[in-house]
Amino acid sequence: MARKIIIDTDPGQDDAVAILLALASPEVEVLGLTAVAGNVPLPLTQLNARKILELAGRGDVPVFAGCDAPLARKLVTAEHVHGKTGLDGITLPEPTLPLQDRHGVDFIIDTLRAEPAGTVTLVPIGPLTNIAEAFRRAPDIINRVQEIVLMGGAYFEVGNITPAAEFNIYVDPEAAAEVFASGLPIVMLPLDVTHEAMTSAAWVEAMRALPNRCGPAVASWTDFFERFDKEKYGSKGAPLHDPCTIAWLIRPDLFQGRRINVEIETAGTFTLGMTVADYWRVTGRPENALFLRHVDRDGLFALIGDRIARLP
Ligand code: RIB
Ligand code: CA
Repeated sequence: MARKIIIDTDPGQDDAVAILLALASPEVEVLGLTAVAGNVPLPLTQLNARKILELAGRGDVPVFAGCDAPLARKLVTAEHVHGKTGLDGITLPEPTLPLQDRHGVDFIIDTLRAEPAGTVTLVPIGPLTNIAEAFRRAPDIINRVQEIVLMGGAYFEVGNITPAAEFNIYVDPEAAAEVFASGLPIVMLPLDVTHEAMTSAAWVEAMRALPNRCGPAVASWTDFFERFDKEKYGSKGAPLHDPCTIAWLIRPDLFQGRRINVEIETAGTFTLGMTVADYWRVTGRPENALFLRHVDRDGLFALIGDRIARLP
């Protein structure tokens, strides 16, 4: 039985690969995409979500626009990483796929109320604004969520937008704090594990050589997306942050981590948005997240490559 998921996203090249991986994998059923402001403003993230679905020939998956700003702060975006459009690297045609009228937060609420309790997993791969807003507007849905599998945070790897914070958490720390305090089972894919998910030149060229349109698109996105990490870290390749969430859903055995307490800093002068991970369990605070720290890189890229090859 495929696992029903809602992907909450701010595309973003790595979001795009995550969405394609999900669409190509029978283990998951994508009920819808809810766009959130993050890498680029909401008008672009919802447009990009529709372009990605159209590229994959999946006009059946609905796209909803969610929140256009964090709960309590000004939006911080990441054009320096993802480019002006948020999906730089390849120019995709204007989508014919319509944007749904319903707000993304209402889609999350309605879906969780309509589906049997415990059967829908939320997969946030951008700032957590939509998720927190849904929980605020409809607290009754919180216990109906099966699991939250999110890309965000960092501990040993420290931050990528500030010295202390990872982007998704930093953009809306209040939302992240409310989600991590929800009591729901959270699977966290922080920079600690996603920085192990680095593309190789051979893998990117194998994508480029695929006899479909999605493979070359992944290669072009990676060509663009890797610049930031190469300049900043001197690393080779691009970190496929967001696809790690979908890969975990399909092959959790590829990942290693431990259940610990994670708190979100919402008041720090220098540490705003930091995920304070009690990895060594020194605080006695309740364990609220499965913090994944390592991945079998070869297994991960074999999985992603195999699935992208199945797409149009
Ligand atoms: O820090 C990485 C995260 O921020 C990824 O989700 C990327 O898409 C950006 O949203
Ligand atoms: Ca993202």
